[in-house]
Amino acid sequence: MAARGSFRLFQNLRRGFIAPSRQIATKSGYSKSAVPVVLGTLVAGVGSYGLYKYTKKEDVTAVLESVTSTPKVTAASTPTSQPSVYSQGKNHALYLWIELEPTANAKEVVKATKSLQKMVDQVTDPSMRDEEDEIWAGVGFSPNFFKQVGGSPRQDYTYAHRRGNLGEMPSSPGDVFIHAKCNTPSKLFELAQVVLASLPKGSVKDFEDIYSFVFKNGRDLSGFIDGTENAADEDSRQNIAVQKETGGSYVITQKWIHNMQVINSEKDRTQEGWVGRAKSDSTEISRKSITSHVARMTGGNGFQQKKPFEIVRQSMPFGTLKGGAGLFFIGYSASPDNLNFMLDNMVGAGKDGPHCDDIMRLTKNIKGTYWYFPGAEELNKLG
Ligand code: HEM
Repeated sequence: MAARGSFRLFQNLRRGFIAPSRQIATKSGYSKSAVPVVLGTLVAGVGSYGLYKYTKKEDVTAVLESVTSTPKVTAASTPTSQPSVYSQGKNHALYLWIELEPTANAKEVVKATKSLQKMVDQVTDPSMRDEEDEIWAGVGFSPNFFKQVGGSPRQDYTYAHRRGNLGEMPSSPGDVFIHAKCNTPSKLFELAQVVLASLPKGSVKDFEDIYSFVFKNGRDLSGFIDGTENAADEDSRQNIAVQKETGGSYVITQKWIHNMQVINSEKDRTQEGWVGRAKSDSTEISRKSITSHVARMTGGNGFQQKKPFEIVRQSMPFGTLKGGAGLFFIGYSASPDNLNFMLDNMVGAGKDGPHCDDIMRLTKNIKGTYWYFPGAEELNKLG
């Protein structure tokens, strides 16, 4: 999936943010030349999302002034989202998956996680940060935890345990999830330490912290370019990822361990049939199997099949050779319907028949669930 949010995006970053002709120039460029565009948009009332994009102290001050005097809504009146939701990718990410003790005080836990942006600022001083050490982070909650702390989700986002002929997708426990992106991996390590230390003593039953990396300029460990069809421009990413009423986002996280033996021994042609794209340059295969990954995700095997659903993928490779390596899949969506459609189609439970996703021939899903990342204001009201 989408290493660094998008391979197209990744290409943009490497090309100094020159967007290909098909794309709209992103509003959240890292380069200083992008600042006037963003600032102009912000002054027009785009909201505090841009706060996380500036590196110069005076820019931050100007943005702060502009957002305190205007309502924190986007031009389309969508409340502000947390910084991880539709921002672009970075070279590394932290996926911190926390399971609480049943006796944990949920209100105290949520109080701590509401300070996530303060913890980010503690790790990287906002007046000194640059694109190498700035961190874009967000926190999400399981359905049960969200309700316990006074949240009311607009849609049910229960994650079902799915089984198909090519493998299972187990439903895993978890209450709180942190996603953070940064070009400096040690900052992410530090953030995980700070977050865990902030939680009430004795409240954590178990946790897993996974650190990811960009592999070969944006390829999955299978060698395929990941993120080709991922939305790259910020408006599309926001539209796809964000629930308009709240600024919140429904998020899937899945830990996949690749079968390197299969990847190294099967012919590229065979694997290309499984994915539906060429390994070298991601060209779409015109006549592809209905069981190919692309056909499963788009709901049909036509060439450039119209997509009934989209999500913003921000997945990245992770792992070690000894302990297992693969893809940490994370996708943001305005509705859980998009996620359910894709997962059902992968395990042969889709409307178009019992077709299982051939991608599961080269990788195994060992952990997964859904979260809701509340909008910034919604998050503030919890507890
Ligand atoms: C280890 C597991 C997975 C691997 C290695 C993988 C890899 C890929 C690759 C190589 C592509 C083609 C290039 C691209 O457009 O990005 C792709 C496309 C895509 N994948 Fe995955 N994927 C995995 C799991 C998933 C899951 C679990 C979902 C959804 C819940 C998903 C959703 C998508 C979507 C929506 C597309 C774009 C399809 C299109 O519009 O053409 N993938 N994936």
